Amino acid sequence: MTASTNQERKVTISELEQKEEQRRAAAQKDREAKFREAWKVPRRYKVKQLLGSGAYGNVAEAWDRELDKPVAIKQTRHLLDDLIDAKRILREAAILGHLNHPNICRIYDIVVPNNLLAFNELYMVLEMCDSDLKKLCRAQVHLEPLHVTTLLYNLLVGLNYLHSAGIWHRDLKPANCLVDEDCTVKICDFGLSRAVGGDFKHLDQAGKAASARSLTGHVVTRWYRAPELILLQESYTEAIDMWSVGCIYAELLGMLTGTEFKERSPLFPGHTCFPLSPDNKHKTDTKYYTKGTHDQLSMICALIGTPSEQDVEQLEVEDARCYMRCFSKKEGSGVRAKFAHIDNAGPALLEHMLVFSAARRVTVADALRNTLFAPVRSRSREFRATEVLSLDFEHHDNLDEKALRQCFLRQVRRYHPEVPEI
Ligand SMILES: Nc1ncnc2c1ncn2[C@@H]1O[C@H](COP(=O)(O)OP(=O)(O)OP(=O)(O)O)[C@@H](O)[C@H]1O
Ligand SMILES: [Mg+2]
Repeated sequence: MTASTNQERKVTISELEQKEEQRRAAAQKDREAKFREAWKVPRRYKVKQLLGSGAYGNVAEAWDRELDKPVAIKQTRHLLDDLIDAKRILREAAILGHLNHPNICRIYDIVVPNNLLAFNELYMVLEMCDSDLKKLCRAQVHLEPLHVTTLLYNLLVGLNYLHSAGIWHRDLKPANCLVDEDCTVKICDFGLSRAVGGDFKHLDQAGKAASARSLTGHVVTRWYRAPELILLQESYTEAIDMWSVGCIYAELLGMLTGTEFKERSPLFPGHTCFPLSPDNKHKTDTKYYTKGTHDQLSMICALIGTPSEQDVEQLEVEDARCYMRCFSKKEGSGVRAKFAHIDNAGPALLEHMLVFSAARRVTVADALRNTLFAPVRSRSREFRATEVLSLDFEHHDNLDEKALRQCFLRQVRRYHPEVPEI
């Protein structure tokens, strides 16, 4: 009797478990169906799973049935709800369409919108990569010195090409450096980039206006932001990207054997970034930032030292000069001391990347010549772009929705020449 009751109970429990399992599977299927439904792409692309989400879109892995290979699709919804955000996506599509280098993420296609007059979504089909450097840095694995050198070299080769096309990335960070298992790095996310070529004078002004907007919008990730950007210098140069590369390289060095997983961290994880992102309780109290240890610039000075009076003199804005003079002079604990356990060549190069003065920071070309890269260097990959890119639409500050729609369709026509003019 008891046995049969137990037997019955067992059957009931396993039935319940089975039902629960079926319910979970159905819910998962439902979620997947909803997910696919939300991706309005042609049958050619079979959307599989989400790879990442950023401020401006979702990226999913998909299978391209026509080319029989995996691709990544970047979806931007509410495309034209905010015209400044729309321009960011347009810039990304236009820049990607012009670039052609193994260390830059390739674009294969832009899906033709269903309604040419009223579309509010865009799908860019990109080369599929295995991961990105942010995910890699979070993985519980150690890298060998040769891996780190290869990753850095690939990143610099991509940046060399990008700068030769007259493009400054302006938002280099680990999440924007895609990576394949063989250590190939591919730079992505060009929404904040600036094409400074062509009509330089005009773009200089447009760039300034737009850069102030993006910076005040707190878009550029503060941990990778160069001192001249923090200090709101308007005539900054492509050296801002080299600063970010230095911050990324330091994180990669933290992946070598010898650093515990729990000790890995971004190099300058500032909590605040005066004056753009101040602490709410201390909005104008400059002492709070110059004497504290958590503001972005004070963290930088703690490692590389306060800039010399000569470097401070070079800053173009008087407020910035005054602000820098509020810091008590210090040497800084030093890049080489921080990475004393690592062969000196890497930290020595890192020191040249993290120079306060943009004019004295190592250039990409000089960095590539560093002997550190001798074992991995391939001169044939260090080629330059055939032309400097100039983006027509950057010449107009107030493009309305209709004009932006036309600009988007011009990009779509690169891959689908049959799309009519509207
Ligand atoms: N081609 C790709 N292959 C694999 N993963 C990708 C690819 N493109 C993007 N991803 C993943 O999606 C994430 C977001 O992509 P991306 O940076 O282009 O979007 P975003 O919305 O512009 O980001 P952000 O928030 O930085 O502005 C990346 O960090 C990466 O993890
Ligand atoms: Mg990104």
